[in-house]
Amino acid sequence: MNRRSMMIAAVAAALGAPAPQALAQQAAAQPAVKIGLILPMTGQQAASGRQMLAGARLYQALNGDMAGGRKVEFIVKDDGGVADQTRRLAQELIVNDRVAAIAGFGLTPLALAVGPVITQAKVPAVIMVAGTGMIVGTSPYFVRVSFTLPQQTMPIAQWASENGKKTAVSVVSDYGPGLDAQNAFKARFEALGGKVIEQLRAPLASPEFAPFLQRAKDLKPDAVFLFVPTPQAGALMKQVLDRGLREAGVQVIGTGDALDDEQLNAIGEGALGVVTSYNYSASHGSPENRRFVSEFQKANPGLRPNVIGLGGYDGAHAIYLALERTKGDAAGDRLMEAFKGLSWTSPRGPISIDPETRDIVQNIYIRRVEKKDGELWHTEFATFPDQKNPN
Ligand code: PHB
Repeated sequence: MNRRSMMIAAVAAALGAPAPQALAQQAAAQPAVKIGLILPMTGQQAASGRQMLAGARLYQALNGDMAGGRKVEFIVKDDGGVADQTRRLAQELIVNDRVAAIAGFGLTPLALAVGPVITQAKVPAVIMVAGTGMIVGTSPYFVRVSFTLPQQTMPIAQWASENGKKTAVSVVSDYGPGLDAQNAFKARFEALGGKVIEQLRAPLASPEFAPFLQRAKDLKPDAVFLFVPTPQAGALMKQVLDRGLREAGVQVIGTGDALDDEQLNAIGEGALGVVTSYNYSASHGSPENRRFVSEFQKANPGLRPNVIGLGGYDGAHAIYLALERTKGDAAGDRLMEAFKGLSWTSPRGPISIDPETRDIVQNIYIRRVEKKDGELWHTEFATFPDQKNPN
């Protein structure tokens, strides 16, 4: 110790405060806050796992690994998109690794599977993707940064009605978010005077969309509304284009899941003119998003970020903000309280966590596929601000 720090130490000791060096040692001795990321890195939803991990890692790369004075360490586990694995991994992470929170969940059933585990252990779970409205209500330890399907769907139902569409058929994946989307679409479209002629559901596990799309076309509606989880967007849109819905005079609409940004260029020019509603577009014009997209593509060459990559990024951001709020206290109930009411500027625009429901509040944008500089992008042309889950 030099003279100056000896004096400071003496004064600190006299005041009963720990010396600066002791403080520094204490901070260093604080163990890292461990966060379990449970992601589908293999299987049908592997594209979601890749995006979420890239998003979370990017947040850490750009913002350092300290939050609230503690080091934050991600422990990544692959659930293969299988709910039993998600539950087992959540238990292991909580009991063996003593994580402060878990995060991820590429599909609704995967999130639902951890509900009882987090409730019992009092450990927060940050939902980065799963979008069925009711999930967050199944445990007081869930918080969601992604979206809900009713929230995403209501605006496109309104757009369709306001743009002269009188009849519609919906085609969705046959599970939680698909049913949510279908119900929300019908409720809003019919409240505005439209008629949903038929609601069709394709199995989630082995998607064969052709017969459903053919049936939809045969019914000759003004619009066909689509929802599938993002990893199935390419397969769905190929069938939509093969069946010639647009040539038959049908306006193709949906939530942005059906026209995933990651796959948009591969889907190709047949997607031009399709109108969707969504919380995030890679083309969103804010400085935060320009930085996010350019850094994401630098770190993951050839990969355009989509809503799921964004979920990983904002999920990590939410965890950092909560730890800042608690000054590094990662005890389950303290951390959970700290998520409530958070608000920040995401690459998607301004967002917050509703303190009552722990669900995401955000803008939903109406977008049309356009070609710019040789690539396909969603161009946002209308905004429904500060949308809550309408359930
Ligand atoms: C879900 O399973 O909740 C889910 C997954 C992917 C999406 C939307 C919803 O794009």
